[in-house]
Amino acid sequence: MATGGVVGAQATDIDTVVIGSGPGGYVAAIRAAELGQKVTIIESAFIGGVCLNVGCIPSKALINVGHHYHDAVSEQPFGLKSSGTELDWKTTQEWKQKKVVNQLTGGVEMLLKKHRVDIIHGVASFVDNKQINVVKGDDHELFQFNNCILATGSRPIEIPSFAFGKRIVDSTAALSLPEIPKHLIVIGGGVIGFELGSVYQNLGSKVTVIEGLDHVLSGFDKEMIQPVLDDFKAQGGEIFTSAKAKSASQTEKDVTVTFEADGKEQTVDGDYLLVSVGRRPNTDNIGLNNTNVKLTDRGLVEIDDTMKTNVSHIYAIGDITVGPALAHKASFQGKIAAAAISGDQNAHDLHYSLPAVAYTNYELATTGETPESVKEKKLDAKAYKFPFAANGRALSINEGKGFIRLISDNQTKALIGSQIVGPGASDLISELSLAIENGLTTEDISLTIHPHPTLGEAIMDASELADGLPIHI
Ligand code: NAI
Repeated sequence: MATGGVVGAQATDIDTVVIGSGPGGYVAAIRAAELGQKVTIIESAFIGGVCLNVGCIPSKALINVGHHYHDAVSEQPFGLKSSGTELDWKTTQEWKQKKVVNQLTGGVEMLLKKHRVDIIHGVASFVDNKQINVVKGDDHELFQFNNCILATGSRPIEIPSFAFGKRIVDSTAALSLPEIPKHLIVIGGGVIGFELGSVYQNLGSKVTVIEGLDHVLSGFDKEMIQPVLDDFKAQGGEIFTSAKAKSASQTEKDVTVTFEADGKEQTVDGDYLLVSVGRRPNTDNIGLNNTNVKLTDRGLVEIDDTMKTNVSHIYAIGDITVGPALAHKASFQGKIAAAAISGDQNAHDLHYSLPAVAYTNYELATTGETPESVKEKKLDAKAYKFPFAANGRALSINEGKGFIRLISDNQTKALIGSQIVGPGASDLISELSLAIENGLTTEDISLTIHPHPTLGEAIMDASELADGLPIHI
């Protein structure tokens, strides 16, 4: 086995090392410390990882600004008229960085210190199954560890003919564009493409999405995404599906994308191009070839239900493992890995439902089974749908579009899945995940008093519908 070129150097002993401080790594580090481990965390870029610094959190900050701006400049049915609305983009960017990102990442650093987690800023790379070399600027240090939790996350996929540069950006750069684009072209109509596309669309950009598949926002079904697509198109957005993006040429001021759709070659001109075609696991750059850790064909780390790799003292969590690249999945796995390393025999991944959310203009959320998975698995289950149009709170906030869908088992009446499109979907979905995880029936939900007037009442209404005793529909 290769040893990474640092043979003979004196290694410093550490106990549990966590590599990467995103929502997987920092959560794992804190939990391991709470459970009595002496923990060292190593971070090559920023505490908080992609999610807190250049992902989930800053994108949600910009999404919020987009909603405020769009509401202010749009005609409102309740008689509010504004004029002279302006966006000071520089202030938006400063607020996003200082008041949102820095505040949150500063808080995480404080929490790590409070739990006496040693923080090392540097680039870690395995020398063998027991040692890592950490490069810190011109310096490097060798460490020997007892346990390791790998949480190195993922990075945007770069397509060779669309190399990132001034006008061709990845999701990180798209969060800090120097100006609001006049025309943003997006290659890849997934969650990032639509979330960031909607930011700029709400801020006045024309947005064109070029998607390889015959549908966008895969992961959410056709019925769910329809309100999102209607809204996107109503705002002048264009979508090309089954489209093959071929090349891009850029000047100082603009970018032209050539693609094939509807059987013909076409071009579209814009001033920025966002390439959001998925993410690549950070497993190819951390010396795993110097260890015995097994990877899948796609470069993901193989783990068991305690997050353990085939090397018994190395664990892996988050985007580098099989399954969706979601922050909450990483955190959940981090807590299991921390508990397993600390000797908890009950530390196993036994979850039934992994919720997923897209912060599109109509929020999308799903947990547990879907109509498609019910069909595929031939489950004896039925879906019940309650529209937000029949919910008082939704109407009072001018958000009467969308629905809550519950899927329950026909025999036991247990809730096994749910999808929401519409107001508050990102928050409402947690109640449904709680119900699924705990085997609650729709009757249990119906018998739970939901405060009035709230969006959450729509969950109760959908349950009553499933019970055959609907009040509001
Ligand atoms: P994605 O996998 O969601 O979407 C990428 C899209 O690009 C797919 O629809 C794919 O068919 C398309 N595509 C791939 N190659 C293409 C090509 N050459 N030409 C045209 N289209 C092409 O990936 P995305 O949006 O980059 O997001 C990455 C990850 O981050 C996802 O796993 C997502 O779940 C996660 N994420 C989660 C968020 C949330 O929880 N709200 C927010 C943003 C990202």
